[in-house]
Amino acid sequence: MPSSKGACMPYTNEQIAALVRADSVHKSVYTDSALFQLEMERIYGCAWIYVGHESQVPNAGDFCATRIGDQDVILVRATDGKVHVLYNRCPHRGAKLVADGCGHAGKFFRCPYHAWTFQLDGSHLAAPLKAAFEGSCFDPQHPDFSVRPVARVESHRGFVFASQAAQGIGLKSFLGGVISSIDNLCDRSPVGEVEVAGGMFRVLQTSNWKVFYENLHDTMHAPVTHESSVVAAREQAQKMGAMPLELHIMVGNGEPYRFWENLELCAYAHGHGYMEGIFDPGAASRDPVTRAHFAVLEQAYGHARASEILGMNRHNTIIYGSGSPHTVFQQFRVIRPLAVDRTMIEIQLFRLKGAPEAVFKRTLMYANIINAPSSNVMADDVELYARCQQGNLSRGGDWTSLHRHLGTDRAVPGGMVSSNGTSELPMRNQFQAWKQYMLGHLVEENCDAA
Ligand code: FES
Ligand SMILES: [Fe+2]
Repeated sequence: MPSSKGACMPYTNEQIAALVRADSVHKSVYTDSALFQLEMERIYGCAWIYVGHESQVPNAGDFCATRIGDQDVILVRATDGKVHVLYNRCPHRGAKLVADGCGHAGKFFRCPYHAWTFQLDGSHLAAPLKAAFEGSCFDPQHPDFSVRPVARVESHRGFVFASQAAQGIGLKSFLGGVISSIDNLCDRSPVGEVEVAGGMFRVLQTSNWKVFYENLHDTMHAPVTHESSVVAAREQAQKMGAMPLELHIMVGNGEPYRFWENLELCAYAHGHGYMEGIFDPGAASRDPVTRAHFAVLEQAYGHARASEILGMNRHNTIIYGSGSPHTVFQQFRVIRPLAVDRTMIEIQLFRLKGAPEAVFKRTLMYANIINAPSSNVMADDVELYARCQQGNLSRGGDWTSLHRHLGTDRAVPGGMVSSNGTSELPMRNQFQAWKQYMLGHLVEENCDAA
């Protein structure tokens, strides 16, 4: 097995295949920076990765700087109204064209170093003192003198994904069974549209990106890791003599094992999946916000469809490589790997266009309670992710276990479903996809690298 210290040591396909067994993974997948670099090429350099939402760039000239794996990119709306994804690099001397964050470029980009300018789609516009290029090979029409676009960009209901591979399967095929989560999130608006609102939470985690994906469907950790917030919420409810939704959500993590065993976990190709909702839909239907929300949906879609939309009760969805949309509370936790032991989580919140404002307030409430840096809940997870990172650096063992309910998962169209909600099916599924990507098998499916 290649050393976890061997940052430059190349891996053969045989060595990569040996890192993932049916029931366990070698700890170096979390700790070896050489593997991290390979992930940037073979997963992030190839798969469809969520870049941002169209509502973040509503007008021509609006842009947001973000990342696809280890690549700085710009999401920008051009004058023709189309959304583009460009590498954040000026072709002159390589300066980042825009700083981090979102902004407005005006009618064109102007590099802050020597003032080359570019159309909003990245094409070369002008360079100062043009005569200086006479007699050289400088050709403003040549792509080498424009800002390079990321190879493929597709949007599904305003959610913009990009792939650095020139050819491969389309976004819809890639998303497979989890596209319904994006649809349900949008369908919860009476006009079928959402917009990013309320700023963005950021949480920097000192752990590998894959640990976060594993945790998203790790039902066994909830009552253990979150015990302190469950106890605190129960005490508070007792003092109040009531259980408002805020506390109900925190107490939810403390459900007994039989509750988690009864949940359903779905796992699809490419490491995607979703988990059945954990909040009692009956309780939701009794709360006034849900009732008001249902009323506007009923008016827009009719009773049966409104029931179907709000009845889809999902907890975290996983879009492997991109992050985790949450349909019921309208958020997208975007997972950006920074280094083998550094991961940035950006939490986007969505307003359902046309829905009562109280629904968005509930979105804010959920994010504050569960996901914000100041949350009583998230801090527990972040601590455990860091402990996994640290523990896996020790000589105390080489393998991590994914044995729970192995062999009991059932096949369904396009994927697998757990027979028990505490199954480690999602993690096994993610690592099988990881192995396929890292061996180049999904590269062939997703990209034609030639
Ligand atoms: S680096 Fe951009 S104009 Fe020189
Ligand atoms: Fe958790």
